[in-house]
Amino acid sequence: MKIDGKEYRTIWFENNVVKIIDQTKLPHQFIIKNLKTIKDTINAIKTMEVRGAPLIGATAAYGIVLAIIENNDQSFLKQSAKDLINSRPTAINLKWAVDRMLKKLSGVSSDKNLDIAINEANEICEEDINFCENIGLNGLKIIEKIYNKKKDAVNILTHCNAGWLATINWGTATSPIYHANKKGIPVHIWVDETRPRNQGANLTSYELNEEGIKNTIIADNTGGILMQRGEVDLCIVGTDRTLSNGDVCNKIGTYLKALAAHDNKVPFYVALPSSTIDWNIKDYKEIPIEERNSEELSHMEGLDENGNLKKIQVYPQKSKAMNLAFDVTPAKYVTALITEKGVCDASSSGLKKLFNK
Ligand code: MRU
Repeated sequence: MKIDGKEYRTIWFENNVVKIIDQTKLPHQFIIKNLKTIKDTINAIKTMEVRGAPLIGATAAYGIVLAIIENNDQSFLKQSAKDLINSRPTAINLKWAVDRMLKKLSGVSSDKNLDIAINEANEICEEDINFCENIGLNGLKIIEKIYNKKKDAVNILTHCNAGWLATINWGTATSPIYHANKKGIPVHIWVDETRPRNQGANLTSYELNEEGIKNTIIADNTGGILMQRGEVDLCIVGTDRTLSNGDVCNKIGTYLKALAAHDNKVPFYVALPSSTIDWNIKDYKEIPIEERNSEELSHMEGLDENGNLKKIQVYPQKSKAMNLAFDVTPAKYVTALITEKGVCDASSSGLKKLFNK
C-alpha cells in the first residue's frame, strides 16, 4: 500500500538485514529501521515497533533467519525460537510462524539452513499478502451487497489496526475496504481511536488517509450511539487468535463493540488469515491475555508546539492503572468470519468445512 504515493510493504529482507517501518513513531514520523540480531527482533516485537498478528508472525520468521546469521548453532536457534514465541503471548501467529520455520529447517545441514530459512520467511510474507488479498475479495462481496441495497456510502466501523500495517500488505479488516474503494464503491470508515496505544487513530486513520479513503476517528465509546442512530452499516475487525469454535480474541474493546452491534442488529464481521486460527485451545479462558505496562495508559505521546515528539503524564501520579491488551468476543456475537478461503459461520462446523479439518 502507499505512503506519500510510494508503494511499501511493512517488512522486507535486504543484505542480511530485516527492514521494518517503526510503527511507534507513526503517524508523525516515517522511519525505516534495521533489525540485525535476534535481540533487535524481540525488542521490535515487544515494544511494538512491529505489531499486528500477521506482521509479528512474519517478523519472528525473519528473526529465525537473523539467529542463523548471528550464530549458526542448534542450541542458539532453539533458545531464539523460544524467546520469539514468548515475546508477545496472545497472537498465535508468532508460534505458528516459528514452528513453521523450525519444521522447514529440521534435518537441514548448517551450510544450507540460511538459504532455506530466507526462502521460507519470504514465503510466509508472500502467502500472507495473497491471503489478505483474498480476504479482501471475499469481504468485498459483503460491502457490495450493502451498497447495492443502500445506494449510498457504506459506513464501516473498525477497531484497532487490522490494516496493511498489521500484515505485510492489504490488511485483513481493511482489505475489503481497499477493494471496495478500488471498485468505486463509496465507503466511509469510523475508526475507533483504540486506547491506550491509539492504533486506530495513529495507524488505521493514517493508512486510510494515504489511500484516500474517507474516515473519521471516534473515541472508543462512541460506536454504540452511532449504531443506535443507524450510522454504522457493518463492523469489520481483525483477530489475534480465533478458536476452532469461532470465538475471537482481538484488541481490548472489540467485545464491547460486538455487544453493541448485536443489540442494534448491525452485522459484525471478523477478518482473518488461517494463520490466526488456533486449532488446539478449546476454551477461550485458556488464551494468554497480554497485560502491558500501565504507563501506556497513564502517559500519552504526541507532537508538542515545536513539532517534536513528546511524552506527557495524563493520570494522577498516585493512581493505579491496569492495561489488558486483548479481550474475547464469543462466536455468538460474530455474524461471520471472512477468510482467504471464503466467508463462514463463526462456529466449528463453519471453520471445519472451509479448512477441511
Ligand atoms: O496490540 P496490537 O496492535 O498488535 O493488536 C493488533 C490487533 O488487535 C489486530 O486487530 C490483530 O492483530 C489483527 S491484525 C490483522
